[in-house]
Amino acid sequence: MYQYWLRFFGLLRKHLFGGFVLLIMLIIGNLGALASPYFLKVIIDKVFGEGDFQLLIQIVFSLLGLYVLRVGANFYADYLYTKISNKITQELTEKLFSHMLKLPMFYFKVNSVGSLVYKINNEVSQVRRAFTGSIISMINSIITIVGLTVLMVLLNLELFIIICLLYPLLILITKYFTPSIKTIIENTRKEESDFLAFLTERFSNVKFIKLFYSHEYEGFLMKNRINRIIDLNLKSTILTSGSNNLSVLLLAFIPLVVLVYGGKQVLESIITVGTLIAFLQYANKLHEPFRNIVSLYVDLVKTSVSIKRIYDVLDEPIDLESASDELIEMGEICEIKFEDVSFAFNDKQVLNKINVIFEAGKKYALVGKSGSGKSTLIDLLCKLIKEDSGSILVNNIRLNEIKTKHWIEKLAVCSQDYFILNGTLYDNLHYGNSSVNKSEIDAILDQMGLSSDDSDTFSSKTLGETGSTISGGQRQKIAIARALLRNPEILIIDEATSELDSLSEQKVFEYINNQPTIRLVIIISHRLSSIQFADEIILLDEGKASEVNSIKEHISMKGGFYKLFKNQLVNSEVARDM
Ligand SMILES: Nc1ncnc2c1ncn2[C@@H]1O[C@H](COP(=O)(O)OP(=O)(O)OP(=O)(O)O)[C@@H](O)[C@H]1O
Ligand SMILES: [Mg+2]
Repeated sequence: MYQYWLRFFGLLRKHLFGGFVLLIMLIIGNLGALASPYFLKVIIDKVFGEGDFQLLIQIVFSLLGLYVLRVGANFYADYLYTKISNKITQELTEKLFSHMLKLPMFYFKVNSVGSLVYKINNEVSQVRRAFTGSIISMINSIITIVGLTVLMVLLNLELFIIICLLYPLLILITKYFTPSIKTIIENTRKEESDFLAFLTERFSNVKFIKLFYSHEYEGFLMKNRINRIIDLNLKSTILTSGSNNLSVLLLAFIPLVVLVYGGKQVLESIITVGTLIAFLQYANKLHEPFRNIVSLYVDLVKTSVSIKRIYDVLDEPIDLESASDELIEMGEICEIKFEDVSFAFNDKQVLNKINVIFEAGKKYALVGKSGSGKSTLIDLLCKLIKEDSGSILVNNIRLNEIKTKHWIEKLAVCSQDYFILNGTLYDNLHYGNSSVNKSEIDAILDQMGLSSDDSDTFSSKTLGETGSTISGGQRQKIAIARALLRNPEILIIDEATSELDSLSEQKVFEYINNQPTIRLVIIISHRLSSIQFADEIILLDEGKASEVNSIKEHISMKGGFYKLFKNQLVNSEVARDM
């Protein structure tokens, strides 16, 4: 755990000067507050004891000066720690977010959106709260305790030793409770993060819940989750409050012990009344910082859990794309070759030593049963996942050696799970295409039939989360328009025309056919109408690319393709022409 804290404090490196000034301000602010009991002793013993009025005036002015200094120091410390803590947490958020985006696709397949949001939002907030609250209070408390210790030792060593005998007990109490508190906090975090994941999933699929009329069942699931969180919170409160209150009880003994032992010394004229009163005041002041440390300790344990969860993500190895700076940039694409490429999800062998060649200037259709690995093959081609064995060669260069940024610029993918921003149509089309101008956008909208689909308001209204305010076909048209605006060399359409009416689909393919900059098109579809533009059809079956032919060859062979499309072929023009 300590190594996580060390790494976290490593973030302070950039703010060393500010941190140093902050420490000085905190020292001034805290030690200034400790001066008054000492002055009280001097007033009782010297001013009243010896009748020195001049000294009283000097003390009053000193106290006034000290007060002004403390206020100034406290104010500047507040400003500084807010600034430093915000900068550090902002840096941490940025670091976490950009690291997460670089993680392999697989990470996102096994971690829910809610748990990722929780990490960026709640865990980082806990760290920020700790910074602006507990860490600073901890430093304040430590400074106060050190100051009090020095002052009490100077006032009366014997009384101080008596106090010290009680403190090890405090440490023992805290140590006894900590491991259980830590486990409960870890469990609570996990439960809360799952809870957020549950909510995100439910609200993203509310239509499904309505269609299954499963409100009651969802309410039951929610209730169970809430009960588990309440249970954990109660356990945590019992432990933290138990340890806090035991410590408070122990701390309450200290001034009483000082009163008895010190009172006896005053009666025996070993110490003055002023010394006893000042010592008692210091002993009472110890109460607060010690109590703070005990309760802040729990908060710091919570923060430790957050820091660990944050660094666990930061320690996840990032994607192959960032592996090296010495990757190759390449020219125009002539050929993409899959050589004995295999890929498995856990134990499931999806692609098994597959061999396929895509040549520039051609349009390919990738077909196969659901789950045959079509989208997986495209993910490999887009460097979203990495092959287990074999190699993907682009112009005879291994894909892994090509700079991802450079490679992705050549591609445009309309995938099955395309992304619609909760922004306007223009925001969506500009995403990743910042250099395109309005006339290019208008031209493509016209081509996609989007301008005629909709009134003027369509272009200015927001499309809702995941495009919830527009139709499925409109969403697909936007996704295709956005892909085409990239001016790609390779265009991949993975089931992204499935919701278009046949006329719109035909217009889209005609447009694609007339784009001279597109050198290679790969279409994945279960619909014959979508693949009939293809020059070659690749059939994926049992992890292999079993047939690579033109559509007519496929039909005459009466192989896997024919079986797959048999029903659709009955009324198709292609089949009739044969
Ligand atoms: N994250 C994952 N974890 C485990 N298995 C997965 C994962 N993603 C996909 N698979 C499995 O990999 C296989 C291939 O999936 P893929 O999405 O490539 O199929 P597909 O040919 O595109 O199917 P469809 O036509 O239905 O889109 C499927 O059997 C699927 O269950
Ligand atoms: Mg698919």
